[in-house]
Order: sequence, then structure tokens, then C-alpha cells
Amino acid sequence: MARLRSSYVCQNCGAITQRWQGKCESCGEWNTIIEEAAALGVGAAATRRGAAGRAFPLEDLSGVSKPEPRVVTGVDELDRVAGGGFVPGSATLIGGEPGIGKSTLLIQACAAVARSGARVVYVSGEESTAQVRLRAQRLGLQGAPVQLAAQTLVEDIVATLASGDAPKFVVIDSIQTMWSDAIESAPGTVSQVRGAAQALIRFAKASGSALLIVGHVTKDGQIAGPRVVEHMVDAVFSFEGDGAHAFRLLRAAKNRFGATDEVGVFEMTGAGLAEVPNPSALFLGGRDAAAAPGASVFAGVEGARPLLVEIQALVAPTSLGTPRRAVVGWEPNRLAMVLAVLESHAGLKLGAYDIYLNVAGGLRVAEPAADLAAAAALISSLTGAILPHDAVYFGEIALSGSVRPVSHTGLRLKEAAKLGFARAFAPPAPNAEGEAAGASVAPIGSVASLAALIAAAAVEAKTSAAQASNRARLPTHAG
Ligand code: TYD
Ligand code: MG
Repeated sequence: MARLRSSYVCQNCGAITQRWQGKCESCGEWNTIIEEAAALGVGAAATRRGAAGRAFPLEDLSGVSKPEPRVVTGVDELDRVAGGGFVPGSATLIGGEPGIGKSTLLIQACAAVARSGARVVYVSGEESTAQVRLRAQRLGLQGAPVQLAAQTLVEDIVATLASGDAPKFVVIDSIQTMWSDAIESAPGTVSQVRGAAQALIRFAKASGSALLIVGHVTKDGQIAGPRVVEHMVDAVFSFEGDGAHAFRLLRAAKNRFGATDEVGVFEMTGAGLAEVPNPSALFLGGRDAAAAPGASVFAGVEGARPLLVEIQALVAPTSLGTPRRAVVGWEPNRLAMVLAVLESHAGLKLGAYDIYLNVAGGLRVAEPAADLAAAAALISSLTGAILPHDAVYFGEIALSGSVRPVSHTGLRLKEAAKLGFARAFAPPAPNAEGEAAGASVAPIGSVASLAALIAAAAVEAKTSAAQASNRARLPTHAG
């Protein structure tokens, strides 16, 4: 007779130890190990029954399988990230910080699918049905025939889903609140999350329902609970954004049925999440009409999507012994590198200045291609030269001071042209890719030539301003 043993499981990474420890040896986190009833190993049940396996027919590769049509929610930005809708029988995990809008997005998707006449079930373990209904009413979705439940016991949920027609679309909000009778640990523990996910995914595969599971994330942005859930599902999406801004990005970290470089862009409004088909317009929306020094427009690419954002720099004389370098929305290390290159290769003296860099709109830019735009904004702020209003910048800066080509040149130029930018300051392209698309390329080979170009524009602007004021003054002098 097998004795029920317990083991100690790290709630952060899922590592198992034989005794309690303050620190997890595997991931290094403190106070994450708790006692859980040990799960029986694979095949343990069969061994106990003493049953022999059952033979099944094998198939060959040439067999034809009829592809089932995807479940298209009608929320285009969500369908796009899923790879053109959700595959029947697939499981998708959606992670994101609390309050970012996961429940809002999914109730909107549910309502849209339900309106097309399919059976849709939304199971909330966090909110009561009254609360879910209240939100749906605020969003004007009360007429959609979504079936609601506030339940957390997985066995009951699976039994309910299995009764009647198989639902086409099932949302479980959130996996951390679900628990299974067969597992002794408390809800939210690694074994419960894993067990509940397993049961739900098994149901989805058997019934052909598209299953969407909400997962909480830890403070460093990972989906809480064992990484193993990420391996169990077919796709992992993360819903990102920052509380101070209304836009939200949906990214695919893993997708067995689509590309992982798609991003969906949404805006949180009073009436729920609105799709943003043209994100560049959103991010450039707040751009000053009266141009000021220190602002450049970066032609970026998020996933496979071009995205123009404004990069703002402020270079101000410091009153401190060690000047400040502060950056929002970009890598501090990248800023340090660009500054060092500007000092060594463009002759800029930045040691006596505080430097602030900000990506407007709250977007986080991770691309090295932003180097050139950041450098342009920094030089512009330092020299007081206003950058041309109709130009975008992109290019990676090497430690040698040269500007290196980046991917998706054509895509960037096309987006710039679409938004009315006539020029792009970019690395000299080996092949004139995409030039025909619109914005013309002014090749910039090095940071030194970028600095010279901006400084020359500054001098020109100063002389013409001086000439203008001289002209204005002349009559009084003469008279
Ligand atoms: P929610 O979907 O509950 O977030 P999550 O499930 O990821 O925790 O969204 C909560 C936030 O969204 C809340 O702070 C208010 C905001 N919100 C709006 O701004 N407009 C709306 O129409 C709705 C429903 C929510
Ligand atoms: Mg929620």
C-alpha cells in the first residue's frame, strides 16, 4: 500500500526538495518553498491496477486530416496574435499584471464569439457572476449569450462543460484560483495549478473547444506557478502596458499555431478595450506641434509591426558631482553606450550634463535600432538644434561609432511615409530596400556625421535667426 508522502515545492519555479528550506536552490528565491502532498508519478495508477496497456492503431504521415476552421473572435487584434483565430482544441495562456485588462479583453472576446451563435462559457474564479455581469453591462455586452459561472472546482467545471454541446470557446479566469479534488494542496500552489491546467487542457483536446486560461504574473513579469503550465499549453500570450497610459500590447511568447512576432495593440477606454489598428498615430498623437530641441521620431518595429514613437532627451548642466542619467522606456545600459560613443567618436562633451531620456507614450523600446534616434535627440538637446519635423531616425550604433543596418528597413520607411514623414535618417542600406515605398533615405554612416549634420542645421538656423533680427533692427538703427 503506497503511503501518501509530501514533498516541498518551490512556488516560484516548481523545483521539488525533500525537506523545507528557506531558499530555493534552483531559482534562488527566498520563502517560496511550501509543503505539498506528493503527486503520484506518471503511470503510477496503471501500476497499481496492474493493468496492461491497450494497443491502438498507428497512422502514417501521408494521411489526410481535415483542418477545422479556427475560432475567429472578431476582435482583430486578438485574432492576429493567435495566428488568425484560435485553433479548436487548443489551449492558450494569457498572462499579465493585475488590472491590466485581461478579464475585460476576454469577456469582450466571449461576447463577440457568442453573438456568432456558438456556445461560449466564461468561468470566473475571482469574481462573482454579478460582478462579471456588471462589467459586461458597462461594456454594453449584456445581450450576448455568454454562459457564466463563478466556480473553482475543476471536476465540476469539466462536468458542466461536457454536458450538452461542446462549447466552442471557454475562458478560465484565472488558473491560480482553480483547484482539483484529486490534489491535496491549497489552490494556487504549484501542484494545484498544474493539476487543474492538465484537467482543463485534456477536456479542450477531447472536445475541440478553444480554451483560454488567464494566468497571474509575478512581480518580474513571469507567469506565476510552474513553468510547466507554459509547456502544457499551445500558446502563451502576455498582456502588457503600464497603468499610467491607456495603451496595451498583446504579445505571443509562444504559439504552436502562428508566428510569435505578432503584436496586438489596444487602448483602454471607458467602454472597454478598443482596438488600435494604427498604433503609430496613437503614439505620435501627443507630439508637440511647436517643435522643440531634444525630440526625434524613431521608426521602430514591434514584432512584425512598424511603430513610430517619439524619443525625448534633455541634456542640462548638472549641479552634482556625478551627473544624473535617467531613462524611461529604454535600456539604461544602451544609453550609457550611446553616450560613450558620442563622447569618443563625435567629440561631444557630456560629462558636465545631467541626461534624461524618455520614450513618449509609455512604450518600452527594446530594439538596438533606436540608438540613432536616441543619439539624434541627445545631440539636438545639447546643441539646441531642432530636428526636422518631417524626419524619422533608425539604426544601430556600433562601439566604433559607425551606424549599422537594421532589419525591416522597408517596413519602417513605408510606415513613415504613411504618416507623412518625407525623410528617414538611416544607415546606408546595402540594397536600396524599400526606398521606392515612400520616405527617402538620407544615409548616415557614423555618429560623427550625424552630429555634424545636426550642428550644421543649428548654425544655419542661428545665422538666419540673427539675420532676421538684424533686418528687424535695421530700420530703427537707420531711423
Ligand atoms: P480587468 O480586466 O479587471 O483586469 P485584469 O483582469 O487583468 O486584472 O481590468 C481592470 C481595469 O481596467 C480597471 O482598473 C479599470 C479598467 N477598465 C476601464 O478603464 N474601462 C473599462 O471599460 C473596464 C471594464 C475596465
Ligand atoms: Mg481579472
